[in-house]
Amino acid sequence: MPKGNFRVGLGAVTFIYQYRIMIYMLEKVKQFVKESFEKCATGKSVEHFERTVYWVQQLKSDADEAILIAAYAHDIARAFRCTNSEQTFQTRELNDPEILEEHQKEGAKIMTDFLKKEEFEKDKIQRIANMILKHEVGGDEESDLIKDADSISYLEVNAPKHVRKLVAPLGKDKVERKIRWMFERISSEKAKQIAEPFYKNAIDILDSN
Ligand SMILES: [Fe+2]
Ligand SMILES: [Fe+2]
Repeated sequence: MPKGNFRVGLGAVTFIYQYRIMIYMLEKVKQFVKESFEKCATGKSVEHFERTVYWVQQLKSDADEAILIAAYAHDIARAFRCTNSEQTFQTRELNDPEILEEHQKEGAKIMTDFLKKEEFEKDKIQRIANMILKHEVGGDEESDLIKDADSISYLEVNAPKHVRKLVAPLGKDKVERKIRWMFERISSEKAKQIAEPFYKNAIDILDSN
């Protein structure tokens, strides 16, 4: 076989191998997240995570497996807390900084432990941990991306549900502050443009509630 063809062939094999590992680990993470939330009495839906992955891919078409895993698993800590939102946030804001910090730290630890057990690549585990650790506040390119996609997905999927479920027990103002915060924390212009109609729709639902 000519040398050039051999190089192309090897490159293609390496690409297919890496692509298969990527799909394999992402599927394993999805399974882990789904099973973890199924055990949780307060929230079984994974729609928010599916849509976060979708919006990450719209914002960054070449997002690699580490980014997609972080996007799907960013809220994993909630599956291990199973707290009742109505009780937890009775005396605190829905975006209480202390609660968010704990939520980020716990999520990063849960996913680091899971991925280490799966013998995933070390540098990718570190990137995933960093993205989950900062997904509420951002601070670098990758965690800003997760934060922005999380905000779009929240405004699209969670905000209308929050309005219907939480306005009565927590009050309209508290729910509105959370929705506004989720929109205002978005870093990229493109993400803000995508999020805007979902944001306006959530505020409309809130106003007509
Ligand atoms: Fe979160
Ligand atoms: Fe989220």
